[in-house]
Amino acid sequence: MATNGTSKTAVIRIQKFNPDKDKKPYLKEYTVTVTPDTTILDALEEIKATQDGTLTFRRSCRHAICGSCAMNVNGHNTLVCNQRVNAHLDKKGMITVRPLPYLPIVKDMVVDRTSFWDQYQRIKPWLVPPEDVPETEFRMTPEEVKALNDAEKCIMCGACYSACTVTAMNKSYIGPHALLKASLRIQDPRDSITDERLVEISGADGAYRCHTIFNCIDACPKNLNPTQAIETLRKLAQKRAAYVDARKERQKTL
Ligand code: F3S
Ligand code: FES
Repeated sequence: MATNGTSKTAVIRIQKFNPDKDKKPYLKEYTVTVTPDTTILDALEEIKATQDGTLTFRRSCRHAICGSCAMNVNGHNTLVCNQRVNAHLDKKGMITVRPLPYLPIVKDMVVDRTSFWDQYQRIKPWLVPPEDVPETEFRMTPEEVKALNDAEKCIMCGACYSACTVTAMNKSYIGPHALLKASLRIQDPRDSITDERLVEISGADGAYRCHTIFNCIDACPKNLNPTQAIETLRKLAQKRAAYVDARKERQKTL
């Protein structure tokens, strides 16, 4: 690792795979100059622009908002647009970037997220309001809004989903991302299909399939807690009838 003032060279080791030509993925090293501010995404862009135009990855916002740049860096799922290269270099000045694990590789860092989105669709992530909506706005309490906060912040990057070893073995498991979003709708007093939602997450591939492995918490770049959301869902499912009745009563005063 050569240094020059605040700049230094770093080796970015990247997993490459083109299913049209390669029998299996392999690692390729690229040397780049980085400053303390260079993000891993900056380094990938630099490599693509100057060294290897075939390098393929997803990105869009560059501000940890769109969720498209989730990758595996030194064995840990993260967004690469808000992680600085310097923070991840090993003693040899090297960093290893791979695609999100346990998902089919389309090319290089691009993975097929079909199962991820299918499970998201499955929990009906949209709000289903009651038939009698108020003439003005819904009036939720601060406590009700606070309960939804965590799930609202999820940007659907897939880092938790791809880190969960249960989803790795069983793609019919709803998964931490979708269970977190299900908890958002189930705890939202404006939603009217609470019973249907609780039945869905109580099935064999729902909240009880989670083995409390905690990888999802470790992987989440937004510091959210899908495991806690899953535990909340289990508790609500156990008192489903009473919770659904309470929801109906609550909606009379929305
Ligand atoms: Fe998977 Fe998270 Fe449960 S990693 S097993 S969803 S605690
Ligand atoms: Fe949008 Fe990283 S590019 S989250």
